[in-house]
This record gives sequence, C-alpha cells and structure tokens, in this order.
Amino acid sequence: MGEDLSSTLVVREFDLNKDRERVEAVERSCEVGPSGKLSLFTDMLGDPICRVRHSPAFLMLVAEIGGELVGMIRGCIKTVTCGKRLSRNGKHNNTNAKHVPVYTKVAYILGLRVSPNRRRMGIGLKLVRKMETWFRDNGTEYSYMTTEKNNLASVKLFTDKCGYSKFRNPSILVNPVFAHPARVSPKVRIISLSPSEAEVLYRHHFATTEFFPRDVDSVLNNKLNLGTFLAVPNESYKSDIWLGPDLFLSDPPHSWAMVSVWNSKEVFTFELRGASRVSRTLAKTTRVVDRALPWLRLPSMPDLFRPFGFHFMYGLGGEGPEGVKMVKALCGFAHNLAMEKGCRVLATEVSPNEPLRFGIPHWKMLSGEDLWCMKRLGEDYSDGSVGDWTKSQPGMSIFVDPREV
Ligand SMILES: CC(C)(COP(=O)(O)OP(=O)(O)OC[C@H]1O[C@@H](n2cnc3c(N)ncnc32)[C@H](O)[C@@H]1OP(=O)(O)O)[C@@H](O)C(=O)NCCC(=O)NCCS
Repeated sequence: MGEDLSSTLVVREFDLNKDRERVEAVERSCEVGPSGKLSLFTDMLGDPICRVRHSPAFLMLVAEIGGELVGMIRGCIKTVTCGKRLSRNGKHNNTNAKHVPVYTKVAYILGLRVSPNRRRMGIGLKLVRKMETWFRDNGTEYSYMTTEKNNLASVKLFTDKCGYSKFRNPSILVNPVFAHPARVSPKVRIISLSPSEAEVLYRHHFATTEFFPRDVDSVLNNKLNLGTFLAVPNESYKSDIWLGPDLFLSDPPHSWAMVSVWNSKEVFTFELRGASRVSRTLAKTTRVVDRALPWLRLPSMPDLFRPFGFHFMYGLGGEGPEGVKMVKALCGFAHNLAMEKGCRVLATEVSPNEPLRFGIPHWKMLSGEDLWCMKRLGEDYSDGSVGDWTKSQPGMSIFVDPREV
C-alpha cells in the first residue's frame, strides 16, 4: 500500500440520494477486464443497486476518502442448494429412495469497483472485508464471487488476500440477436408455463442442482421474468391442451427441455469499447446485408458498440435422447422473443459438464469462461451430509440465478 489510508478511508452504506451520481461516475471510469483490449462497460440506468435489489437480502457499500467517492461493492444473501442427501423415507424404503436438496445460506459479492487512480491502496480489500462482516452477522455460511478468469486484479485480490478458492468454471454462452427470426423446428411443441407450473417442475427436477435458489418462486414471479417455456416432441402430445405439470410428471414424454427467460434489458445495459474502426464497419456491413435479405438467414453482428440490452436464459434443463434438440428449439424461440423486444444479445451460463449445452447456439468470440471463487465463512457450522462445499466436486449442472447476472 503506497499511502496510509487507515485514518482517511471510510466505508459506509450507500445512500441513493447522496451517492448515486458519484457511484455512476466511478462505474463509468472502470473497465472490467484487461486494459488496452475490448472491454465491457455497464450502465445501471440510474439504479446502482439494480443488480442486487431482487435478492432476499442485499447491501451496497461505498468507500470515501475525504469526501471523494472512490469505490463500491454490492452483496446479497440467499439460501441455495449445496448438495443432496437421501430422504429419510427413502432410507427405509429403497424402492422410493429419493434425493432431496441440502440447503445453505450463501452470500454473493458483485460489482466491486475502485477508481483507477486509487487502486493498489487496499481499498478493494477493505470493501470486501466490510461486506464479509455483514455476511457473517447474518449467519451466512459461504461467500462467493464471479469474475472473468483473466481479471488478474480481481482473482488475486480474492484468492491471495481474502482466502477464496477457485471453485467452478461455468461457460457464458452468448449469441447475437439477428435481424431475421431463428428457425424453430415444427416437430417441437413449445408450451408456455405459468410461474406456479414452472415452480412445480423446477422443484421436482432441479432442486438438487447446485445453487438452486430455495426461493425460486420469487424468481419466477418477478416482473423481470418473461416466462418459462417447455419443449416436447410434437408427436408426444395428442391433445392440443396442456394438461398441467402433475400429469406431465406422471407420464413425461421420452424427451423434453425447459428454460426461463429474464429481461436483463430493464436492469442495465452493456457497451463494448475499444473496437477498431475496421471491426465496427465489418459488423455494420453484416447487419445491413441481414436486414436487406432476411430470407437468406445470414448471421449478422449486432451493434454492441452502443449501449445494448440482453435477455438471459436460466433454469435450463431437460431429459431424454432428444433433449439437445428440445433445447435448440427453445433457444430459437428465445431468440425470437429477444428480437421482438429489441435486445441485441441472448446469453446464458451453464456448467462446463452440462450435457444440454450442445443445443445452445452461441458465438465463440462473444462467449467465455467465468471463474467462481468461494470461501467458507465459518468453521463452526455443521458439516451435515455435504461437508465443506468449497472442496466438493462440480455436478453436471449448475443453477445460475438471473437476479445476480
Ligand atoms: C479489482 C479491484 C476492485 C481491486 O481494487 P484495489 O483497491 O486496487 O485492490 P487492493 O489495493 O485492495 O489490492 C489488494 C490485493 O489485490 C491484488 N491486486 C489488486 N490489483 C492487482 C493487480 N492489478 N494485479 C495483481 N494483483 C492485484 C494484490 O494481491 C493486492 O495486494 P498488494 O497490493 O498488497 O499486492 C480494482 O482493480 C478494480 O476496480 N478493477 C476494475 C473492476 C473489476 O474488475 N472488479 C472486479 C470484478 S468482480
């Protein structure tokens, strides 16, 4: 640390009226990712707490030096699945053996920013420590954060200084929204589920998936949730009427898949900066051609060099030999929904082991690998049947909560 900040640095709770503009100024000055390359800028649309406000409990802190706002951090707390165990009934009766989720209280850190001219002075570290105090005071067992794996400053801060270990590497899969609609196979039927129907299916099939939020009903009923969609082979449904989740679960088709869509466009926008004039012109040319000749269905690069909104697909899952085909149809459907709503990108995040990822169209140049780092906040919690979650092996799937994207 160059300058001794111990007496001048104050970390306190964010005050919307007092801090909003200054927080936005710091946000604008921060590029996330290595400098000198393409970087992503975020516009919170006048609401700096937008990325945590939909969680059951949240806090935003700011750092000040002599009245100058120099950094901020957001955190939220919720209860999620960290493992599974056999249900008590199942233990006595092997024929009905059923896995049930083991839940834990977990905290998530996001939106940590320090003004470029105030870096390497220990401000980031102080913000993280203060946030962890709030997590501990609220009985949180684990804390985690996500970052791009090449964000050295962030990775080193959390792993070298704060005791986090590298935990999971989900893939962020991003597809442009083209000017022409995507094709949805006519052999697949897409059914729109109500939030309560979606909840039944999610709790039945995904409750034991890592990071499944126990309050999935509040996610599904949130106004940002645009809907949950179920894909089934056309021939498996003789009737035109959807008979509800209970009948579906008692006699499911051989293959199916489901996904929910979250309207991140209402929360914040992104903008890519640092692209060369040549790249911009090339991208523009592809759009002009796509708009002029939509029937050719040529892939085009949307304008990501101005602020753009996106939709996020979450809760993706399914079963059966044609599960990947069902996912592909759902992604086509979600693409067309994003197109209708004026989004320029459709994104999702899945486990690297997710077998259904092969059905998700995406552009490699826009996609990437995320790094999730996790820390156990207290040693005196009961280990239960899961043990220390930070040391567990990854599962096939992961549930990425759209509230924290
Ligand atoms: C990541 C960030 C918040 C760090 O803030 P900071 O106030 O500079 O961090 P600190 O001074 O508290 O650094 C603490 C430790 O983190 C590590 N660290 C921080 N910046 C680093 C860098 N550029 N390179 C390598 N290690 C770094 C070091 O271990 C450092 O300890 P040291 O200075 O004794 O070597 C800041 O760089 C930033 O705002 N980056 C842009 C936004 C971003 O990437 N946020 C994280 C997304 S989750």
